[in-house]
Amino acid sequence: MRLLKDDEELDRIRRAAQITSESFCEMLRHCSPGTGEWELAAALEFGFRKRGASRTAYPTIVGSGRNSCVLHYSDNGRRLEEGDLVLVDGGAEVDLYAGDITRTFPVSGSFSTIQKAVYEVVQRAHECAINVVAPGVALDSIHRVAVSRLVEGLLDLDVLAGSAEEIIANGTYKKFFPHQTSHWLGLDVHDVGDYFVGDQSRILQPGMVLTVEPGLYFPPLIEGVEEFFGIGIRIEDDL
Ligand code: GLY
Ligand code: MN
Ligand code: MN
Repeated sequence: MRLLKDDEELDRIRRAAQITSESFCEMLRHCSPGTGEWELAAALEFGFRKRGASRTAYPTIVGSGRNSCVLHYSDNGRRLEEGDLVLVDGGAEVDLYAGDITRTFPVSGSFSTIQKAVYEVVQRAHECAINVVAPGVALDSIHRVAVSRLVEGLLDLDVLAGSAEEIIANGTYKKFFPHQTSHWLGLDVHDVGDYFVGDQSRILQPGMVLTVEPGLYFPPLIEGVEEFFGIGIRIEDDL
């Protein structure tokens, strides 16, 4: 019942997404070196409440610098520094339904060459994955498109070497993309519903709502990619 949303539910999720999106744009104006991660979280959440949302759908994530690589980071306790990227993942809850958006942007207003190169890989994966979403498409084909674009990018950036097929088969990309591309969205941010029917990936139908959220993360732990350390980028939208 919860996997297929009716028109009233879709309307609530659209309003949650719209409020979340507008609040992100407003929050960006508060971003500058010295701002606390907690201040960006407060600015975003103020936008949600100002626009009529009841609460956040989940704890807001504002990760700057190396904190952008921590998947469910919610301390939001560091000050932004010149040259950092900041990853903000937040969602308004509207009439019990969740929005869930992520954007990653440079604190100083422009990307370094290397940040831009990684951003463009994630952006392309995000666009290509969104273009696949349609009724009749298997959910796992969205993930496969995202993974293949990310792996192409990791090869171009010389982060990984070898053939894309091998890298995908043995999963070495998972060090840099350790999560799935999509989850169901609804009453809960990770809404209920099976992703597989038996061993077959779920086929998308009108009324299903999902996120598309590819990312690449370079925590300062993985040897051989020191020049990327501290870069964590995710771009997430709701479809
Ligand atoms: N904000 C949780 C998620 O994106 O899955
Ligand atoms: Mn999500
Ligand atoms: Mn999210």
